[in-house]
Amino acid sequence: MSEVNTVSRRRYDAISRGLHWLMALLFLWIYCSATAHYLSSDSALDKLLWPYHKPVGLILFALIVLRTGWSLRSYKFRPKSLNLVAYIGHKALYALMFLIPLVGLLRQYGSGRAFSAFGLPVMDGFEGEKIQWMIDLGSEFHSLLGWTMAVLVLGHIGAVVLHYRRGESQVLRRMID
Ligand code: HEM
Ligand code: HEM
Repeated sequence: MSEVNTVSRRRYDAISRGLHWLMALLFLWIYCSATAHYLSSDSALDKLLWPYHKPVGLILFALIVLRTGWSLRSYKFRPKSLNLVAYIGHKALYALMFLIPLVGLLRQYGSGRAFSAFGLPVMDGFEGEKIQWMIDLGSEFHSLLGWTMAVLVLGHIGAVVLHYRRGESQVLRRMID
């Protein structure tokens, strides 16, 4: 392996870091909207945040497609997983980041209702019978997987903090430096 590759394997490249932190911010936002909705769907906070839940979810869906493509393309140059738990945990996060908005969007499509995001039309909607399996899939799994990922993310952050407190600050540094 060339010297450049050896060096770059010590930290994530700028695109991976940019996507990681941009998405982390959007996830923070979307979980605020989901929590406000869960706790009190009549509150002023929910009325402020909820209208953007689907549009921000759509952006996250587009970003995870890009991020997956980039991670595959840059696979050889990325830092190796620290251990098997980190490897499986990161793969699970990728799967959930893809599946959660996907089932949300499928339910939206199946409902036959038009959907626009930030003023741009995304789905036209249709007349006639709804597509029941899409609605059921979304109703069964969207929230369930959404809260499951929240727990995984807390575990992910906890693991980073643990490494840091053990004096292994390089784990955090490879995602920020
Ligand atoms: C990665 C992106 C997303 C995350 C992490 C996420 C997360 C969540 C969570 C945790 C809930 C549960 C809230 C509660 O219990 O009241 C929820 C509800 C909901 N989400 Fe999302 N969501 C995402 C994207 C989307 C998208 C793209 C759509 C539709 C286009 C959508 C539509 C909904 C709807 C309609 C609900 C209402 C509750 C339900 O019936 O399931 N979400 N979301
Ligand atoms: C304060 C919040 C967060 C912190 C401090 C954090 C920190 C880190 C660090 C230090 C790494 C590198 C660890 C390693 O290479 O073993 C990493 C990687 C990763 N993080 Fe986070 N993270 C945060 C939020 C999130 C969120 C919200 C998600 C997804 C929902 C996420 C998903 C990932 C994934 C999938 C990786 C593997 C690298 C990749 O392919 O992008 N992180 N994170």
